[in-house]
Amino acid sequence: MNILLIGSGGREHALAWKLAQSPLCHTLFCAPGNAGICEEAECVSLDVNDFAAVARFCKDNDVKLVVVGPEAPLVAGMADALAEDGIAVFGPRKRAAMLEGSKSFTKDICAKYGIPTAAFATFDNEADALAYLREHGAPIVVKADGLAAGKGVIVADDAATAKAAIRDIFGGAFGAAGAKVVLEEKMEGEEASFFALCDGENLLPLAGAQDHKRAYDGDEGPNTGGMGAYSPAPVLTPKAEQQVMERIIEPTVRAMKELGCPYQGVLYAGLMMTDEGPKLVEYNVRFGDPECQPLMMRLKSDLVELVQATVERDLAGGASEWNEQAALTVVMATKGYPGAYEKGSLISGIERAEQDPLVKVFHAGTARNAAGELIAVGGRVLNVTALGDTIAEAQRRAYAAVEKIDWPEGFYRKDIGWRAIARERGT
Ligand code: AMP
Ligand code: GLY
Repeated sequence: MNILLIGSGGREHALAWKLAQSPLCHTLFCAPGNAGICEEAECVSLDVNDFAAVARFCKDNDVKLVVVGPEAPLVAGMADALAEDGIAVFGPRKRAAMLEGSKSFTKDICAKYGIPTAAFATFDNEADALAYLREHGAPIVVKADGLAAGKGVIVADDAATAKAAIRDIFGGAFGAAGAKVVLEEKMEGEEASFFALCDGENLLPLAGAQDHKRAYDGDEGPNTGGMGAYSPAPVLTPKAEQQVMERIIEPTVRAMKELGCPYQGVLYAGLMMTDEGPKLVEYNVRFGDPECQPLMMRLKSDLVELVQATVERDLAGGASEWNEQAALTVVMATKGYPGAYEKGSLISGIERAEQDPLVKVFHAGTARNAAGELIAVGGRVLNVTALGDTIAEAQRRAYAAVEKIDWPEGFYRKDIGWRAIARERGT
């Protein structure tokens, strides 16, 4: 079977690497891809927002399955558009993608179906939101309703910050994504992510992971897309995972079916592990980036088989097999990220880093210059991923590999895994 993968990040390189290993995959295409993905797949320069062009490409190249990495094409209706041409898409239809595309949509489902999440209220105007803020005070979490590239959430510890955030969002800082604002109780606890496949009705739990959202060591500095991750997440004990499935994910999937928008694809539950048990922070309708990298490193099952079972509504009775080892990813980013950064700096040493058979370097913002040299062209650039018997061992191996990469314009966090390693040590 020929497969088209959509995306260009570290997540997509990990997916490409894993899809290409399957005997079921004949030719793997990727649009637009990056320098690392080009080693696993045939990269094509398609406008992925032009669904008619994507459908044409699929017909011309006998592609029957499209795997979508990022959320934006799904929220924009790629799965609906391609289905009309008989092309299966791994990823939800537009209405089901609302689970990520609209925070108020998800919160309303939580309220209606008793799914544990932060107390909340939704507003379509500034005056009412400010009145609610006066009544409830800080700390409070202010969220733009729609997709805002990870920037639409402000955790406000004082009322002045919350007020400014409400004004900014209704003032148009996030365009149409800010037509509504959700105000939420601030939850306390450790964050974790859990991933499950869903075929519209049946669920197949995958695994848990933890991300590091802040740019600098000690969880300091600005928020980023994620500076490192590991799987499994020790905070997600088997009991906690069962609670997440029974109290959060299963009722959501039942709700989506009842609402006439069954969910098909991978469901990413962002969780807060509170004193009252796991609560939902948000859903994403895709794999996490960088969480997907350690997940794919640990997955023993054939990813094409799992994707096919998902799109063919055939997950019932299925299982996924995982390497018992832990995997940890250190993200290397261009200095300046998540703010402004230069493009074009030279990177070398990836082959040296990958001499360890338990290390894989997934590319994100990379390209080749006219001389064929590897250069950085994005904020997050490399995802150095390693396996180990413990998270501490995976961390040692990943950082040993990072040391072999020569990229003076890059930086990375030195403490990826600290929470899990403290838990492993019992401290
Ligand atoms: P979201 O885009 O909804 O995942 O929010 C981004 C980040 O904001 C989350 O990963 C949390 O760190 C934080 N956050 C969101 N909602 C809450 C909440 N209700 N309580 C505490 N932190 C939150
Ligand atoms: N790493 C967080 C995300 O993918 O949303």
